Amino acid sequence: MLPIQLNPALISKYNINGPRYTSYPTALALDTGFNQALINSAISQAATNLSLYLHIPFCHKLCYYCGCNKIVTRHQHKADSYLDALAQEMALYQPLLQNKSINQLHLGGGTPTFLTEAQLSRLMALLQQHFIIADDAEISIEIDPRSCSDNKLTHLRTLGFNRVSFGVQDLDDKVQIAINRVQDTDLIRHQVALSRELGFSSINLDLIYGLPYQQPASFAETVDEVIRLNPDRISLFSYAHLPERFAAQRKIADSSLPDAPLKLELMQLAINRFVAAGYQFIGMDHFARLDDALAKAQRAGKLQRNFQGYTTAGQDALIGLGVSSISQVNGVLWQNSKDLPEYYQAINAGRLAVARGFALNSDDKLRAELISQLICHFELDITAFCRKWPLESFWQYFAEALAQLQPFIEDGLLLVNDGQIKVTAAGRLWVRSICACFDAYLTKGQQRYSKVV
Ligand SMILES: C[S@@+](CC[C@H](N)C(=O)[O-])C[C@H]1O[C@@H](n2cnc3c(N)ncnc32)[C@H](O)[C@@H]1O
Ligand code: SF4
Repeated sequence: MLPIQLNPALISKYNINGPRYTSYPTALALDTGFNQALINSAISQAATNLSLYLHIPFCHKLCYYCGCNKIVTRHQHKADSYLDALAQEMALYQPLLQNKSINQLHLGGGTPTFLTEAQLSRLMALLQQHFIIADDAEISIEIDPRSCSDNKLTHLRTLGFNRVSFGVQDLDDKVQIAINRVQDTDLIRHQVALSRELGFSSINLDLIYGLPYQQPASFAETVDEVIRLNPDRISLFSYAHLPERFAAQRKIADSSLPDAPLKLELMQLAINRFVAAGYQFIGMDHFARLDDALAKAQRAGKLQRNFQGYTTAGQDALIGLGVSSISQVNGVLWQNSKDLPEYYQAINAGRLAVARGFALNSDDKLRAELISQLICHFELDITAFCRKWPLESFWQYFAEALAQLQPFIEDGLLLVNDGQIKVTAAGRLWVRSICACFDAYLTKGQQRYSKVV
């Protein structure tokens, strides 16, 4: 049986603008009145193992669809100044992290492989100098295949990177031209093969559905090629089209975009093929080989979710460095400035570049756990939940949510009783909308989120 069942008739009912719940509350709840002393106490009370995320914002060329925080430039020296600032930021965190061990390190962006080999060496040396990185740490990097040579990939392996993620998006020429990201399939094939030869233990490929001119037949070719490449994990993102927020997306004509039913068909096609090829559908936008750590964690009920998506560790234990990075440790969330000059200004003045933050109260914490449980495992054991969180009556506490859940229950998307909440196969697609019923903050700023499908 397929892990997800799609019913196009439900699109108009449930395809809301909603968060992806990489945190609860979402980043929109963060505010400027945040007290930086909260960071010190959150980290000092945190467990010994932490994940570290480093944001490298630079890219050589603009992809029109891109919703990431990035700066397009040809000036390689800009990365030197950025590394200077990262070194200062690491020094500010060093005293807080001296008793902690980093067991996951992830370089994201932008395009981390914008950095030259020398810059990558410097960055890794800085990290080793400031932090304790566990011997068996997962060290991963996002790669734009166009910005990575054989030498750079080999160098990454020498530096200790053991996981790679390549941006594929779509392999069709017409789509690639419309999104201003023309890349050769042979290049991707070559880099995936070389990654295997070099001994990277995990390879992820990113795809997007909902891009301009995508059609089932050509998208099926992209999906089949990805299956032939046999990655350990696949991210299948729904194109988030928010032209009022991302100016470059205005270069994509609305008329070239697939409408919601077609988008759903593209997604369905990809899910069917990936599952038939032996991938476990983790949820929302991720697939993993059955023997991959992510798939195993989900089967063991231990899957987590943080700002990088589904993960095996680092939920509520993640430090983000660099412009726009978000951290979440021990019930405290904070985000660095999204503006590079502002980030530099704070760091040069010897302070953290935190622009906004938020400390979860007990209601936030229990909702966060509930939402994480639903989005990672599609079910909640209410009895166990009430043992942990002293609620006299679960459904009395969530009476408002229960009212909002009624349509999902009536449409067979959700099973609810006193002991359990269970998202059905037909409901999995709408898990974001289901979680939104438990979100106490959602009414403000909902339009700033992308559509669920
Ligand atoms: C930081 S990029 C990955 C690394 C590298 N910059 C690249 O493009 O290959 C992260 C991923 O976000 C996804 N992405 C970017 N903008 C998106 C959007 N508007 N909607 C959905 N996914 C998006 C793409 O799949 C992209 O590979
Ligand atoms: S998708 Fe990647 S390479 Fe393209 S602009 Fe965004 S961050 Fe840069």
